[in-house]
Amino acid sequence: MNDLKNGYLEVKKISHSYKNGKNVTRVLQNISFKIRKGEMVALVGPSGSGKSTLLNLIGLLENVNSGEIFLDNKLINPSSYLSKDKIRLNQIGFVFQSHRLLPEFSARENIAIPQMLTGLTKSLALERSDELLEMMNISKRKNNRPGALSGGEQQRVAIARSLANAPNILLADEPTGNLDPKTAISIVNHLQKIVTKTKLTCLIVTHNMEIADLMDKKLILDQGNIVEK
Ligand SMILES: Nc1ncnc2c1ncn2[C@@H]1O[C@H](COP(=O)(O)OP(=O)(O)O)[C@@H](O)[C@H]1O
Ligand SMILES: [Mg+2]
Repeated sequence: MNDLKNGYLEVKKISHSYKNGKNVTRVLQNISFKIRKGEMVALVGPSGSGKSTLLNLIGLLENVNSGEIFLDNKLINPSSYLSKDKIRLNQIGFVFQSHRLLPEFSARENIAIPQMLTGLTKSLALERSDELLEMMNISKRKNNRPGALSGGEQQRVAIARSLANAPNILLADEPTGNLDPKTAISIVNHLQKIVTKTKLTCLIVTHNMEIADLMDKKLILDQGNIVEK
């Protein structure tokens, strides 16, 4: 059972550096924070401040140098490679700045694929794809391939795909960075409703303060440290 005091996502004393030969880039220094269920949090900070690094660590795309990351009080990083794959598939939704949809598949197929990786049949997976496309208000485009969708539509599909296996946490790295402000705000408003309704834990990197202001709180990353607002 999730303890509201502890937070659903808990990042404890994370430090992370990149080494290239003799060069060491210290990116994150002793960072700690918590995000509750149903909370939508903006991660902001100057370019190069480590926003993507932090998101990749939480999303288990990279191994943390030191510190710990907990999801629902369970340690997820560091953890074994095998359990990481499973956690990523079942518990974590990830949205990138550019949609990264598979170009040969329709919108609904793109959303069905991660579900089929968990063992669901194609027809059940497509049924859920259609529900998610409806939820993202883009049903009319369900049979289009990514190339026949606008940037905003592609990101809506990418968000629907990230929710395909009903994750507990949604991580998005500048998901509206390539979109015009009106489309960006409409997508974030939409996502906010889903976060509240499904009690998702949501961390979104954004450069846009207008978008950050729509969220429940902000984590500001600067010179390796974090400030909460
Ligand atoms: N794989 C990597 N190897 C070496 N340095 C990296 C790597 N990824 C990121 N960096 C460096 O870490 C710092 C933070 O990068 P990043 O997390 O991408 O910042 P942001 O997303 O805030 O722009 C930058 O100085 C960047 O050059
Ligand atoms: Mg980045």
